[in-house]
Order: sequence, then C-alpha cells, then structure tokens
Amino acid sequence: MTVDRDDRDAELLRMAVRLALRGHGLVEPNPMVGCVVLDASGRIAGLGHHRRVGGPHAEIEALAAAGERARGGSLLVTLEPCNHQGRTGPCTEAILDSGIARMVYGEPDPNPVAGGGARRLADAGLEVVKRDDLEEVRRLNRPFMHRIRTGRPWVVAKWAQTLDGKITGGAGDGRWISSGLSRRLVHRERGCCDAILTGIGTVLVDDPLLNVRDVPSRRTPLRVVVDARLQIPLSSKLVATAASQPTLVVCDSEVRRSDADLAAQLEARGVTLLDLPATGGELPLRTLCERLSADFGVARVLVEAGARLLGRLFRNGLVDEAWVFVAPRVAGGDSGMPAVAGATEGGLVESLGLRLESIRRRGDDLVLGYGVPSDAGTRP
Ligand SMILES: NC(=O)c1ccc[n+]([C@@H]2O[C@H](COP(=O)([O-])OP(=O)(O)OC[C@H]3O[C@@H](n4cnc5c(N)ncnc54)[C@H](OP(=O)(O)O)[C@@H]3O)[C@@H](O)[C@H]2O)c1
Repeated sequence: MTVDRDDRDAELLRMAVRLALRGHGLVEPNPMVGCVVLDASGRIAGLGHHRRVGGPHAEIEALAAAGERARGGSLLVTLEPCNHQGRTGPCTEAILDSGIARMVYGEPDPNPVAGGGARRLADAGLEVVKRDDLEEVRRLNRPFMHRIRTGRPWVVAKWAQTLDGKITGGAGDGRWISSGLSRRLVHRERGCCDAILTGIGTVLVDDPLLNVRDVPSRRTPLRVVVDARLQIPLSSKLVATAASQPTLVVCDSEVRRSDADLAAQLEARGVTLLDLPATGGELPLRTLCERLSADFGVARVLVEAGARLLGRLFRNGLVDEAWVFVAPRVAGGDSGMPAVAGATEGGLVESLGLRLESIRRRGDDLVLGYGVPSDAGTRP
C-alpha cells in the first residue's frame, strides 16, 4: 500500500506536535516546537524538540541527531524555521548546511524579526511546503499566537463540578468535588503555567495555598487574587507564604490610597500590589490580563476561581480554554453554587465561543476540554 505524501507529512507533523508538547512549561513564553528529519529514502533519521527557553531550537536538535543522514532528506517542523540570529543561530542556515532538500512546516512564524525562514529556504532551492491545515498544529501554539496578537496571556479556566453543575457542595461543605487523580492533573498544570488567578471569594472561603504539590514543578506560578477592596486576611495562607512564593493582589486604586496602612502591611509580608481603577467596584479584567503579560511576563494563566470571577472573565471574552472536571456527585436541591455566574445576559447561550476539544477520564471524573477554535483568530 502506498501512502499519499500529504498524509505522510500530516502524520509526521502530528508526531512533531507530540514531541513539541514535551516542552510545555519549560519553553514558554517561547513557542513549543517539534521537528522530524527524514533521510533521502524517507526513513526517520532524527527527532528534536525545543526543550527550554534559550536552548537549541527543535530543528537543530533533530539535525544533530540525523547527522549526515539528513543530506538529501526532509525536515518537518511545527513552526516555520527562524531566520535570525537570536540567542541561537538562524535555523535556516543550519538547514542549508545540512543538505536538507525538502522542508515542511506547520505555522508561519508571526514574529517579524524571526520570520521569513520559508522564503529564505525556497530562494535557496529547497522544496518548501506549508501545512497550516492541521488542527493539532494550530492548537499547539494558540497561546503563543494569541499573546502576540492581543498582548494578553492565554487564559485557562478550570473548575470542578458535580453532576448537577455545582462547584460547591453547599454552605460550609469544604470537601473536594473532584478525585485525587484529577487534582494531580491540576497540580501538573499549575506547575506549567505562569500564573494562577483566583477571586477574593475563594480566598475567604477556602483559604487556598495555590502552590504546586506532589508533582514535579516546571515553573513557580505567580498567585494572583482579584480583591478590589483589599479584604485578603493578613492571616491567610497566601499572605503567610508570600515571602516564598510570588503573590499579587489586585485592588482598586482608590482603596489602595485610602487603606495605605493595610497596603503597606501586605507589602511588608512580600505581597506585590497592583492597583487598577475600578468602575462601580469592578476591576478591568482585560487591563489586568494585559498588565500580567506586559509587566509580569505571564504567557499562560490558570483560573481557579469561584462562579463570580469565572462569570466576569467569560463575560469579558477573556477565557480561551476551559477544563471542566465533572465528578459523580450531586449537590442536590438548591444547595451549592452554579459554576459560572452572570456570564451572559441570561437565556441559553452558545456565544461563549468555546468548542469541545477533548474528553479525558481521571478515575471516575470526566475532564472536558473546551477551547476557542483556532479559526477564531479575529476575536478582539
Ligand atoms: N469547584 C471548584 O472548582 C471551585 C474553584 C474555586 C472556588 N470554588 C468555590 O467558589 C466559592 C467562591 O465563589 P465566589 O464567586 O465567591 O468566588 P470568586 O469568584 O473566587 O471571587 C468572587 C469575588 O471576586 C470579586 N470579583 C470578581 N471579579 C471582579 C472584578 N472584575 N472586579 C472586582 N471584584 C471582582 C467578586 O466581587 P463581586 O462581589 O462584586 O461580584 C467577589 O467578591 C467558594 O465556595 C469556593 O470553594 C470552587
């Protein structure tokens, strides 16, 4: 049976995506990139992925693994090879030196400084193929592309709910909703993101630590609390551990001025304060996201908040991905809090712009993954 060359390219690019994902949590804010090099007869000669910020690019790794076998062969890479001297040399030159005859890439590099790699290689006589039709490739670097386009981090809203859609069991019921296996998955994701965002409601009820536990951590996330009126208790676990784990409290500028003593006490304990002008007590969440990206280098945010902050994030079109853990429990009757409050004007709504992208199982929990479709690139 012969395999169509387009299908074989797609299969190898999907392999490159899986390689790229190994860098999640280590390479951001750079894009995750994976690469496969074939010899002249089409056999796999080298694999590579971008492993850490400042480290060799995926193409360089894969070419090094292939060595002389790359001559006359093909290189398939999830992102257009860079064409500039950054922390590492231009990948285009390494590809030309290796004798590669054909280059297939997934997405164009949106960075104006690094771009132009495909053109450079085509001009040098290589056969160059662009394969931007693969959903897996587009999903891989949605967060990177989104930040370049909007100046905001990629926001993943995560919540655990009962079968009847409640995120709490009822007043005073502080038991976990999801299973230990699900929580492990959340801790792994915490250890791969730059910030964990929550609301003061959750801090006052749960007194969470929002750190990474029981799994290896790839980075230390900044803990961010939306707390317009500076209600966070000095005795809370977040404040108590602020000296050892970065903690940002976001409040109304007016409140910071009027409660200067309290603000100073929080800062003395290691909390960083970010004040923004609130309107009617409401902080501008879009501005907050922009500031997280620009001032704190945040590329990916995991939201672990209650219904009210989740609702406001949805309402402002700021949720890019949602992970919903559905556990086989019921809150029952009128008890418990619905997952998302006031996200829309009311009625049944599909306008959140999310599509079901994955269904996983963690013990008896379902993990539903929703995302903004990659063709929704024009979302403001
Ligand atoms: N199952 C889960 O996955 C999960 C996860 C986290 C929390 N929870 C539960 O959720 C419950 C807390 O829910 P919640 O809705 O009170 O908590 P929350 O969403 O974490 O925090 C709500 C608070 O944040 C404020 N807020 C949100 N957006 C704001 C903005 N743009 N500007 C100013 N203030 C803003 C709200 O102000 P307003 O009063 O003005 O709205 C409210 O005071 C707890 O019982 C907790 O256990 C469950």
